[in-house]
Amino acid sequence: MSAITTYLEENKPRQLEELIEWLRMPSISTLSEHKADMLAAAEWLGARMREAGLEHVEVIPTEGNPLVYVDWLHAGADKPTVLVYGHYDVQPVDPLDEWETPPFEPDIRNENIYARGAADDKGQVYIHVKAVEALLQSEGALPVNVKFIVEGEEEAGSGALTAFVPANRDKLAANVCLISDSHILAPDQPSILYGLRGMWKGELTVTGPATDLHSGSYGGAIHNANQALAELLAALHDADGHITVPGFYDNVRPLSDEERAALAKVPYGEKELLEESGAPAAWGEPEYTIVERTGARPTLEINGMWGGFTGEGFKTVIPSKAHAKISCRLVPDQDPQRIGRLIEAYLQELAPPTITVALESTQGARPFIAPLDLPEMKAAAKAYAQVFGNEPVYTREGGSIPIVTVFQQALGAPVILMGFGLPDDRLHAPNEKFHIPNFYKGIQTSIAFMEEL
Ligand code: BES
Ligand code: MN
Ligand code: MN
Repeated sequence: MSAITTYLEENKPRQLEELIEWLRMPSISTLSEHKADMLAAAEWLGARMREAGLEHVEVIPTEGNPLVYVDWLHAGADKPTVLVYGHYDVQPVDPLDEWETPPFEPDIRNENIYARGAADDKGQVYIHVKAVEALLQSEGALPVNVKFIVEGEEEAGSGALTAFVPANRDKLAANVCLISDSHILAPDQPSILYGLRGMWKGELTVTGPATDLHSGSYGGAIHNANQALAELLAALHDADGHITVPGFYDNVRPLSDEERAALAKVPYGEKELLEESGAPAAWGEPEYTIVERTGARPTLEINGMWGGFTGEGFKTVIPSKAHAKISCRLVPDQDPQRIGRLIEAYLQELAPPTITVALESTQGARPFIAPLDLPEMKAAAKAYAQVFGNEPVYTREGGSIPIVTVFQQALGAPVILMGFGLPDDRLHAPNEKFHIPNFYKGIQTSIAFMEEL
């Protein structure tokens, strides 16, 4: 056995124990009460990176949560530089009572580790830290130059890093960006993502009467804000699931026949979708397959809605205000800001004189698509095939990683999305998990990728 294989074998338990320690830290970026946990999680990572043999560890304060930067640049100027990106922030845990074991007390069951952030994204970031450690500790060097930038606000829109990247081009300069923050199709079926959807998001407020009113005194003569909200939201799709906002599809790049043929090879369809989701039936644009609907078509979702009385008992009111959180998944070449303007204009046009509407947009993300014939893509494919025993399939993913297009533009480097999660990891949901064999295979794949490069 080579030194590195021995090292990896001997250090398996410790690698997992360290990840468990990190997963205990409740680094929820969207809740301000976790501010101190964010710094602790960033510093913990910086310390492990230093122990791994990486250099110039910096925990960089920002207006939001700190960034962690680190590098190892001794491979030589003729060797490529890889910039590894990931995020140490995690999603909130509610509904808490649906977790079988507490979200920040990692538990191992059936080869999976259950914890918030296990797959999204701590477990996947840590793969690359341990890959680099194994190479440095067993061989004393890396085959390529490596930089890491790990942020603590991905789940909140990547505000600080979006400003940091263009202002620190030289520091982050690289030949390729490597991101593990997605999933493969099955434990033995790797997949390479060549597209991610972008996002627009905003909060809608409908206002009717100046205050809540007694529904006996005013019902029948005043438009109920909850009802008006429901009417507006219902008008945003037609019966086939198409979005009715005028101009919404204007810049959607049509799918080519070649791409449709390639996506048709992805072994995922209605059966898998229903099994995974627990929904009674599929929904959406009938002229597109499930893989196309979730990866290559834009959507408009009502993420939350509230208004009026929802407490214990009953209160017969006509609510003054009703609210909805709305977001869109966008595809090339839709522009988040333009989409926000179109939605706002349409809602204003739809709004009856009985209410007023206000829409407040927040930080969005641009959609991403990459060419398939890049040499870095081929290196990723070889690395996956070597470790997983199967050639990867190429697919587009419905989720968003806001920084991807910022890297592409500011650094001019290709982005490789090399995920190690699984489709049923329950990201953002109760009982999030990470498949432990994928953690170890991920470490081997990361090493193989660096060597292949
Ligand atoms: N890791 C996910 C994105 C993702 C999900 C990629 C599934 C591939 C498959 C990321 O952490 C995420 O959740 N992003 C948010 C971004 C948003 C808050 C701006 C998303 O997609 O909702
Ligand atoms: Mn993520
Ligand atoms: Mn996420």
